[in-house]
Amino acid sequence: MRFTRLSAVREFCQQSPRPLVFVPTMGALHEGHAALVRRARVLAGDAGRVAVSIFVNPTQFGPNEDFSRYPRTLEADASLCQRDGADALFVLQKNEMYPADFSTYVNEITLSEGLCGASRPGHFRGVTTVVAKLFNLVQPDIAVFGQKDWQQLAIVRRMVRDLNFPIRIVGVPTVREFDGLALSSRNQFLTPVERAVAPEIYATLRDARLRCRRGEKSVAQLLRQVRQRLGKMPGGSVDYVELVDAETLQPIRSVQRTATLAVAFKFSQARLIDNVQVR
Ligand code: PAF
Repeated sequence: MRFTRLSAVREFCQQSPRPLVFVPTMGALHEGHAALVRRARVLAGDAGRVAVSIFVNPTQFGPNEDFSRYPRTLEADASLCQRDGADALFVLQKNEMYPADFSTYVNEITLSEGLCGASRPGHFRGVTTVVAKLFNLVQPDIAVFGQKDWQQLAIVRRMVRDLNFPIRIVGVPTVREFDGLALSSRNQFLTPVERAVAPEIYATLRDARLRCRRGEKSVAQLLRQVRQRLGKMPGGSVDYVELVDAETLQPIRSVQRTATLAVAFKFSQARLIDNVQVR
């Protein structure tokens, strides 16, 4: 079932059997999203309902980012949702989500500072604002997010805690191509040459994780090696490579407990992110 008007979305959600499990997306769905929907289906069980939303949220794109060319593939998205067991698809409209005089934002101020927050000012303010709006609208019991956007997941968890949303947040592992490249709606913007070298991002992260497991504890050393290897990749440039505490996202000096090694890499028409957990 597809719903567009906010009033219809609200009505569906209010009448839904519980648990209601929610998967917020920006569409252009791929097998990574399919994994989120399938996990939602398991969490909802036979009795509950799974709802997916599609909304390309303008407030999380910077002025020079790819909002206008962000892929929009509604009919294919609807088929994927149906195939993987969603009960409802919310296709939300900009004028209803953001009335012309919209003036209230949700801002997480600590975890949003570094990593993608530093390269994309205002991005997470847009994410937390739209996710809070969606949570108020849908009032799910559980919401499912991908671990590829590790920082986003950590920020949403923090927002839920800080603002007392009665919602359980579930993170789902990154789905990858056969050669390790993390699935992303932006992979389609890679040139053939860029696509051929892009798996090197994950290969480099895996290698660093292995070195960590074998006893390398020096963050400086690990980061130097990762930056050097990624720096040699043709056709793009490193935006950032950071090793941070997996929960607080604060930079660490030595790996004592689980940490996140996170990378953003800029190709000509696509900025890709990826991460692994190391300890
Ligand atoms: O991860 C995404 O697709 C988006 O950031 C989200 C969570 C749907 C908010 O627009």
